Amino acid sequence: MANTERTYIMVKPDGVRRGLTAEVIGRIERKGFRIVALKKMVIPQSLAQTHYGEHQGKPFFDGLVKFMTSGPVVAMVVEGPGSIAEMRRLMGATRPWEAAPGTIRADFATTVDENIIHGSDGPESAEREIGLFFKPEEIIG
Ligand code: RTP
Ligand code: MG
Repeated sequence: MANTERTYIMVKPDGVRRGLTAEVIGRIERKGFRIVALKKMVIPQSLAQTHYGEHQGKPFFDGLVKFMTSGPVVAMVVEGPGSIAEMRRLMGATRPWEAAPGTIRADFATTVDENIIHGSDGPESAEREIGLFFKPEEIIG
């Protein structure tokens, strides 16, 4: 497909703890995107800090890193036409109360600190984040 692309998606620790992994994966697959890599892992602190490096120095940074390392996540590479922007649309706005009804964050989250899902916000971050979490041989297209 001409405009197919890959994005980095992660069910955050709250989503895993609450048993919402299958719900999130189901929405991704029913949309028509393909999961080309997937693993459950506990993120080391240094990886969480690197992954969210753009937020270093912000008041919520330390809490964000603590939360993201508080339990296992499910990390994925999702492939499909326009998948970067489209996954952001399916996720909904960062603040769940601003997310459109029917989006993952609107349907399952109430606070900005624990908002279920991460998705890359552009082509550069997608490439960077996929490389942080997966070796090339772990991605099976
Ligand atoms: P994410 O990176 O996790 O997919 O979320 P996002 O792009 O929608 O939002 P971003 O601005 O990248 O923020 C990353 C995560 O930091 C937490 N946050 N807290 N208290 C606050 O004002 C605040 N702002 C952001 C959220 O958990 C957000 O998902
Ligand atoms: Mg972000």
